[in-house]
Amino acid sequence: TLQNGAPHSNPHTASAVSLAAQTLLAANTVAFPTETVYGLGALALNTHAAAKIFTTKGRPADNPLIVHVSSLAMLRSLLPATYTLSPAYDALIRHFWPGALTLLFPSDPHTVPSIITAGHPSVAVRMPSHPVARALIAVANAPIAAPSANSSGKPSPTRAEHVLRDLGGKLAVILDGGFCDVGVESTVVDGLAEDGALRVLRPGGVTVEDLERVLAEELGARAPRVLVHRRDFHDEGMEAAPTTPGMKYRHYSPAVPVTLLYTSVPSPMDALRTSAADFFASLRSPEASRPTRVGLLTPSDSRLLAYAGALDGVEWFPFPLGTLTEPAISAQRLFDGLLTLEQEGVDLILVEEVAEEKEGLAFMNRIKKAASTSRWLEL
Ligand code: TXA
Ligand code: MG
Repeated sequence: TLQNGAPHSNPHTASAVSLAAQTLLAANTVAFPTETVYGLGALALNTHAAAKIFTTKGRPADNPLIVHVSSLAMLRSLLPATYTLSPAYDALIRHFWPGALTLLFPSDPHTVPSIITAGHPSVAVRMPSHPVARALIAVANAPIAAPSANSSGKPSPTRAEHVLRDLGGKLAVILDGGFCDVGVESTVVDGLAEDGALRVLRPGGVTVEDLERVLAEELGARAPRVLVHRRDFHDEGMEAAPTTPGMKYRHYSPAVPVTLLYTSVPSPMDALRTSAADFFASLRSPEASRPTRVGLLTPSDSRLLAYAGALDGVEWFPFPLGTLTEPAISAQRLFDGLLTLEQEGVDLILVEEVAEEKEGLAFMNRIKKAASTSRWLEL
């Protein structure tokens, strides 16, 4: 039901989806679940409606929005009439749509307003797989622009409660579809460059390994190269790091300081390197009356847990990620962990690195931006 100030609706009923669709068609915003993160939706082809997304989030106007569709016909309606899909896009769409993959297409400027593309010649489109998202777009029968449903700069919401806490006072409707399976945003791929290569502008829910595997299976020797920016300290294999316009902003940060702990890669600077024992000892509160409250976001089989257990003067708030060999679970739990620990009122959140493979690439991309400090620990 739609109530002032206390939005709540049941996505499992057709009436909730229909109410949300009516809200969208009246040029207002709606928060809704997708398989990646919760989205803040508005009509993509209505400048007045799309502008409300920017004011609600406090989002910079030069950061373009992803348009969500529920059918290939809806995709077609956004693109120039003469445009034909490349073999690579055709393969990716058949394998990964609906799902956590966003593709850039040439935009028809007569159809897609410049508030959506931020003036770029391309428009980013994805077809979500979450049944509530699909139903909402289909019932509204209109493409829906949707960034993550958080205030600009904050972690992306993976539960309806996260949205309610952050933006509840500004929204008429939040559709509650439970937690998001993927937990990080979609992978953004630009396949429009003249050289035919696919550039991963933002790693996300669909892994680079899966993109490469599907392209090789489908196109064999004709498969395009997949270019991705993997490391921040030593770039390899790429002339310049291509990223989305949104990637330059401070991002994904809770109100609490976040320290990223590297445990397997060498430190780029001696000053940032320390023994794990010394680092953990330094967290002890100087006042006996109140221990430091520290959130600990690490793989459930992390070696760091032994250091934490041995200390007094620190109250620990562990939030386990997947095991060291489960990057998909680590990615699924990252934003939930940051937001849950923030709500528990910790003074500091420590996050341990995850190997930059599979979903771990998206995990590290997000946490490098969320962290205010990085330290390199010797175990
Ligand atoms: O999983 C997701 O993609 C979620 C859910 C709600 O679908 N949405 C999402 O939207 O993450 P947002 O606005 O938080 O991130 C969109 C990203 C930004 O980094 C933006 O710069 C990039 O996509 N982007 C959008 N349009 C673009 C364009 N035309 N060219 C390059 N990058 C674009
Ligand atoms: Mg976002």
